[in-house]
Amino acid sequence: MKAWLSHLSLDLTVSPSSPEELARAELSSALPETVFRLDNDPSLGEGYRIQKKADGSFTISGGKTGILYGAYAMIRSALSGRGLPESLFSVPKYGLRMINCWDNMDGTVERGYSGRSLFFEGDRFQYNPLRMMELGRLMASVGLNVLCINNVNVHNPAQLLLEDFLPEAKRLADLFRPFGVRLMFSVDFSQPMRHGIPTADPLSPLVQDWWKKTAQEVYRAIPDLVGFLVKADSEGRPGPFTYGRNHADGANMLADAVRPFGGKIIWRCFVYNCRQDWRDVQTDRPKAAWEHYAFLDGEFADNVILQVKHGPFDFQVREPLSPLLLGMKQTNLAMELQLAQEYTGHQIDLYTMIPMWKEIFEELPADNIMSVAAVSNLGRDDNYTGHPLAAVNFYTFGLMAWDPETHAESAVSEWIRLTYGFRSEDEKALLKVLLGSRRTYEKYTAPLGIGWMITPHDHYGPNPSGYEYDLWGTYHKANREAVGIDRTEKGTGYLLQYPEELQKKYGDPATCPDLYLLFYHRLPYSFVMKDGRTLIQRIYDDHFEGYEETKAMAEVIRSLPFPEPDREIILSRMDRQLYNAKEWCDIINTFFRRLSGADDARGRTIYD
Ligand code: GCU
Repeated sequence: MKAWLSHLSLDLTVSPSSPEELARAELSSALPETVFRLDNDPSLGEGYRIQKKADGSFTISGGKTGILYGAYAMIRSALSGRGLPESLFSVPKYGLRMINCWDNMDGTVERGYSGRSLFFEGDRFQYNPLRMMELGRLMASVGLNVLCINNVNVHNPAQLLLEDFLPEAKRLADLFRPFGVRLMFSVDFSQPMRHGIPTADPLSPLVQDWWKKTAQEVYRAIPDLVGFLVKADSEGRPGPFTYGRNHADGANMLADAVRPFGGKIIWRCFVYNCRQDWRDVQTDRPKAAWEHYAFLDGEFADNVILQVKHGPFDFQVREPLSPLLLGMKQTNLAMELQLAQEYTGHQIDLYTMIPMWKEIFEELPADNIMSVAAVSNLGRDDNYTGHPLAAVNFYTFGLMAWDPETHAESAVSEWIRLTYGFRSEDEKALLKVLLGSRRTYEKYTAPLGIGWMITPHDHYGPNPSGYEYDLWGTYHKANREAVGIDRTEKGTGYLLQYPEELQKKYGDPATCPDLYLLFYHRLPYSFVMKDGRTLIQRIYDDHFEGYEETKAMAEVIRSLPFPEPDREIILSRMDRQLYNAKEWCDIINTFFRRLSGADDARGRTIYD
């Protein structure tokens, strides 16, 4: 991350006053030989047009932030060796391109793997203004425009949005504004109850007035705040259910409060029963979001956006697209991704996400969502992302949020080039490792879409039965004969939440893509896969392959000329990944062999 910024020589100790001034300064410091004319054209909004003139100069037209994005597009192109584009027109596909930080005011970060919070410490704001500007610049350089600074689980709601919070928050918003980055706050639905109101019922006039008054104060301090992000009735958070109200009642009440200021309510749909009894076979967690929201399609105010995790579970290595993202046609939707590697290796194991995102966006019909969000992978570590190579996920998320047609390979090579400037063979070698890293991780962890064989709560390393008898609704039910959950019509019926052609595709194990097989079906170990292997053999093969691929990856990584301090961090994490991959491979294979009694057809070692 820092390495990419180091190409930009602009001195940020003098804070820029506007995106346009920043664009001018960045261009003249990064491309001093080139002549630019910046042409303010508000009709282009955040989009930009670049045109080379006969005299060799360039015009960048756009609205305020459009000019800035155009400038960064020029700089990225020049610095990554592609030369300056002679004619280019680009508009972002999604309006809000959001980073959601799960930072707590005590300085910890929920699911954070890069050190403590960038914004808070000791229950108050504590940040380095220069780093804030650096972060603003990182975001702007890849087109990201919204930063939610605090955790969706609001742990200290009493303090939020009060007089002592707002002046500090205002100062922070002022730092980010020239970068075209607007702030957002997570709020707690029961916030009024901490301020003398006896209820949080969304239909109570007392509650409505409290939120209206509070919104007024907040917007007085930060007039361009995006709005509030809300996790309600989810994993113990308060919400409208307590009062017998639905989520449209809750979200619309908040939407009324922020509407006069142009604010939005981003309402998360991560709602399910997290106190499930494992003996209960009627409840199936992936069905929950649809059951809570689909019937409310069309009921949400126009300044409410429902934020839906990309899959129906929770950021597993492989999940189908959430049916809500396909079905709620009359509601504003945002899709939520997770850069923090909660289930995907804690920024220790390599896991480059863009190949996975490409699959997700390909499944998503063109105009179904209006915004995208990603849970942040940033922290106070000097390199921002803990693992230097995890920065590729932040960078490419920005490019994808701007344009989901972004080519995965080009995006990753652009990042490598800007970050390390390797010679061509080294760049190619790293590119191959990064692009293959998600498949490799998938192979050595839980098999074929089943998910959840990870160590409970911490979510790093294998524990195949760790969640099996727990309350979270995430079961694989492996026994001596079979593994998986039947989610077809004959089973839990989850599949019925999808359009008919998808029901057909996934409903039959013969047409269901292998990688989703155990998400949708319960199958015997002797089930014959499309390529003729049995299910159990496929499980063994994937795990051995995953570990072998990790070893090969480590060889390549060790051979590359990473500069210090990156090299030391990368190599020590690679060693931990190797250990992790072996643990996963051996434990999962042993787990299934003990159950099935099946030997590996290729005679490799599976421990008793
Ligand atoms: C997961 C994660 C939690 C987080 C939650 C959410 O369950 O483990 O830490 O709070 O997602 O997205 O709200």
